[in-house]
Amino acid sequence: MLSRIVIAATAALVLTGGAALAQQDVIKARQAGFSDYKKAMGEIKDALGKGDVAAVAPVGQRIEAFAATIPSLFPAGSDKGKTGAKEVIWANFPDFTAKAKDAENAGKALSAAAATGDKAATGQAFAALADTCKACHQRYRAD
Ligand code: HEC
Repeated sequence: MLSRIVIAATAALVLTGGAALAQQDVIKARQAGFSDYKKAMGEIKDALGKGDVAAVAPVGQRIEAFAATIPSLFPAGSDKGKTGAKEVIWANFPDFTAKAKDAENAGKALSAAAATGDKAATGQAFAALADTCKACHQRYRAD
């Protein structure tokens, strides 16, 4: 009987250990994606500065593609460890998901504007995209 309890307890420990590890992996994965976002914003700024509007389109697509994966990279409880994710994300997950969708749509709109070659419209779409980053960070990312 005792050995059974020990086995069950060990199994539970192994399971929780595995979950903690997987969570650290998912945290790293999303942070890598967001780091690339920062890089992407710099690339867009540089391209616009040079007047190379066409170069912005693929970067917008990159933003759109990662944004579509954001909700899946925030499993419940992954606010433990080295992360800037706030616990309030999971109490408001539909809103968090909507904010990811806003970024996805803004990335798409940026690509579309860049594809037309219209510099002013692309600049406006870039500003709108930056607003979607800020809107999510204000509520869901720790400083
Ligand atoms: C739907 C919400 C959401 C959107 C949209 C969003 N972010 Fe974030 N961002 C977060 C959260 C939450 C974190 C903290 C992640 C963590 O540490 O686990 C974060 C972290 C970051 C980080 C730090 C990454 C690291 O290495 O720790 C950067 C840089 C960043 N975001 C840039 C951006 C940019 C640029 C945009 C817009 C193009 C953007 N984010 C859009 C929620 C969002």
